[in-house]
Amino acid sequence: MQDDYQSHSSNEVTIIDVNGSAIIPGLIDSHTHMVWGGDRSREVRWKQQGNTYSDIANMGGGIVSTVNSTKSMSERDLFIIAKNRLMKSLRNGTTHIETKSGYGLDSTTEIKLLKVAKQLSEDNDTPSVDSTWLGAHAIPDKHTLESYTEEIISHQLPLVAESQLARSADVFCEPGWFGIDESEQILEAAKSYGMNLRMHIDEFSDGNGGELAAKLKVDTADHSHYTSEDNRVKMTKSGVSTGFLPGTPYSMGSDWPDFNSMIDNEHLWTIATDFNPNNQILSMPFVASCIVQRCAVDPLAALVASTINPSFTTPHQTGMRHGVISPGAVANLNILNSKHWESWCLTPGHSPISANVLNGKYNNYEN
Ligand code: NIG
Ligand code: FE
Repeated sequence: MQDDYQSHSSNEVTIIDVNGSAIIPGLIDSHTHMVWGGDRSREVRWKQQGNTYSDIANMGGGIVSTVNSTKSMSERDLFIIAKNRLMKSLRNGTTHIETKSGYGLDSTTEIKLLKVAKQLSEDNDTPSVDSTWLGAHAIPDKHTLESYTEEIISHQLPLVAESQLARSADVFCEPGWFGIDESEQILEAAKSYGMNLRMHIDEFSDGNGGELAAKLKVDTADHSHYTSEDNRVKMTKSGVSTGFLPGTPYSMGSDWPDFNSMIDNEHLWTIATDFNPNNQILSMPFVASCIVQRCAVDPLAALVASTINPSFTTPHQTGMRHGVISPGAVANLNILNSKHWESWCLTPGHSPISANVLNGKYNNYEN
């Protein structure tokens, strides 16, 4: 249907004839882990044999195994891999991403990963990038929780803050990883350096991460799968957004959180892919399909959770509005393969878009 797109430019405007196709804003993927190397595919069978996420970490898989395969890689090689991932995200409609470090777990490697994210943010062909430091992602070999928390606060965080390579700090706050006390110490320290705060909470069980997120008024508390309604109310009262990551339960074979209760109870929420070695999903329309086609969420609510809502937790580096189609906002748009906007999340096996506009630059995928 879009074969006969026409576009022409004058000095000031480009006119694109989309033949009546629906147009939606550029999608914002507000939680990803894009910069890492290695391959954890064999873990799928370990999961199917009944091993939990933490069993797999103890068997030599999980986050620390990705750290080991990432450490020796050059900035150049990591950049090439991550750029390729970002181009796939763009093909699926994402025009802005947040990405985290977290596969270094020492100062030198964490800063190397943040430098790669900075190079990506300077590349005009890829979605724009908001960068987060996640040194508190796992306990590296040869450390205890106590010794690594101390190392983060006294050594890693000051260097990261000085580098100014990360706008925000994040912590994997989960029983078995970083507890409430350690998470609070690390996030308070990050705040003292002027960093914005984000959290991973309650991914596998309710560890009361929601209460800490509310106390610290973090920008977004993500996963939040098992957070109690009491803590969700506290988060809402503190202005904390919940970042659901539907790809993770999809990849882990677990159940879904109750997305529609967030609408009924008027909580602020977003969705994102959480692309990582355990969940290699780069498509926002796919995770939206999970909540629309599997969990009965309205497609407009899913679109709001992928555009304007994350524009507040994951702002554009220019300070301009994004996630909306409006004069004065960044010109990030997706042209769909259908006249119906609902189609944006109904083709989970392939991209629903035929063309997009990234920062005003037109990419036509039909050619
Ligand atoms: O958000 N849960 C913590 N971190 C990532 C997974 C990291 C990994 O398994 O490599 C997440 O899902
Ligand atoms: Fe994550």
